[in-house]
Amino acid sequence: MLDVQSIRKDFPVLSRKVNGHPLVYLDNAATSQKPSSVIQSLVDYYEGYNANVHRGVHTLSMEATDKFEEAREKVARFIGAETSESIIWTRNTSESINLVAYTWAQENIGEGDEIVLTRMEHHSNLVPWQKVARDKGARIRFIPMTDDYTLDLSDIDSIINPRTKLVSIVHVSNSIGTINPVQELTKLAKRVGAAVLIDGAQSVPHMPVDVAKLGCDFFAFSGHKMLGPTGIGVLYVKRDVLEDMEPFLRGGEMVLEVTYEDASWNDLPMRFEAGTPNIADAIGLGAAIDYLNDIGMQNVRDHEVQLTQYALNAFKELEEELILHGPVDVDVRGGIVSFHHPEVHPHDLGTILDSRGIAVRTGHHCTMPLVKSLGVSATARASFYLYNTEEEVDLLIGGLKEALRYFAHGVAPA
Ligand code: ALA
Repeated sequence: MLDVQSIRKDFPVLSRKVNGHPLVYLDNAATSQKPSSVIQSLVDYYEGYNANVHRGVHTLSMEATDKFEEAREKVARFIGAETSESIIWTRNTSESINLVAYTWAQENIGEGDEIVLTRMEHHSNLVPWQKVARDKGARIRFIPMTDDYTLDLSDIDSIINPRTKLVSIVHVSNSIGTINPVQELTKLAKRVGAAVLIDGAQSVPHMPVDVAKLGCDFFAFSGHKMLGPTGIGVLYVKRDVLEDMEPFLRGGEMVLEVTYEDASWNDLPMRFEAGTPNIADAIGLGAAIDYLNDIGMQNVRDHEVQLTQYALNAFKELEEELILHGPVDVDVRGGIVSFHHPEVHPHDLGTILDSRGIAVRTGHHCTMPLVKSLGVSATARASFYLYNTEEEVDLLIGGLKEALRYFAHGVAPA
């Protein structure tokens, strides 16, 4: 059991008011709040040892380099990577996936090859592959979804087949919360010699993840959804796969020797990090990992399972009015509850909630095809994290009742 009240004290923003009400922050799938230790780590860097990394013999540069590389080590240990040489800093999950599309895929995907995705991908794990498929004459195949919002694996042996070169799948859906069987799918992909990319943007922040155990080739996630700063993301690449990959961006830092005619490449992972990296935010992500490690990722997951179950029960009060999207079984669901009302637009629900200090996301959640397949253009989404409480779920339900009284039944808010 988490001591949520004590955790909440570590997050300065949680004590503010919004529209006269205490903030109820339920938009964690979009970005998480930051604890004081992460904020302080940024201040410490800029006030105490701001310098460029891997470049200077002076003390500040060496201190910055040590902290920056220490953060990389922390990321590697946090996700079970065998070596920190497998950890490439990017800006976010989208950039991590694009890096694979612009490097590995250029060399390894050709005409007639197949790329397998699910029908619940975020645009970031769909649009880059649409371009690769178009440029290379490859075909995208989709693993469909069942009525209970899980992947339909009944035809998987024909979808993942000897023509498959890449299986690129979301670990936890950002819009409906489904936890996908990525380990099982990785095994199927490996049986036909395909590479595997996992979009872990919504899994790494919320549950223990071990990339070595999963056996994937690529694993992408963002710092800002796991208590870290914005602008820092991670791409894990299996060491032997990375060795054979061409650089993504070319310039300073990623080279070993340069002549006017040619260049040779630096060691891994610097070969993939041209230019001055995002030093402060990488160090901030290291501080976020320290915070999460102190709490324990299984404890984070257990708390969210409990809270999601509580929320699903609480939503039963509104089952005549709201349609919920996502698996009923919380064992295969992250802390995400998406819903819509047949007549009231989700933005209207979100606006009334905001007037009571409650933050949810409304829209297509960067999964336009998935949301359209649910027969709507948008949903409202509450997404939880380690600092959320049952009382906040009650406030959400209260806010929704008021919004529905007003929009669906014409009773003005009090
Ligand atoms: N992908 C993020 C979300 O689901 C931004 O809200």
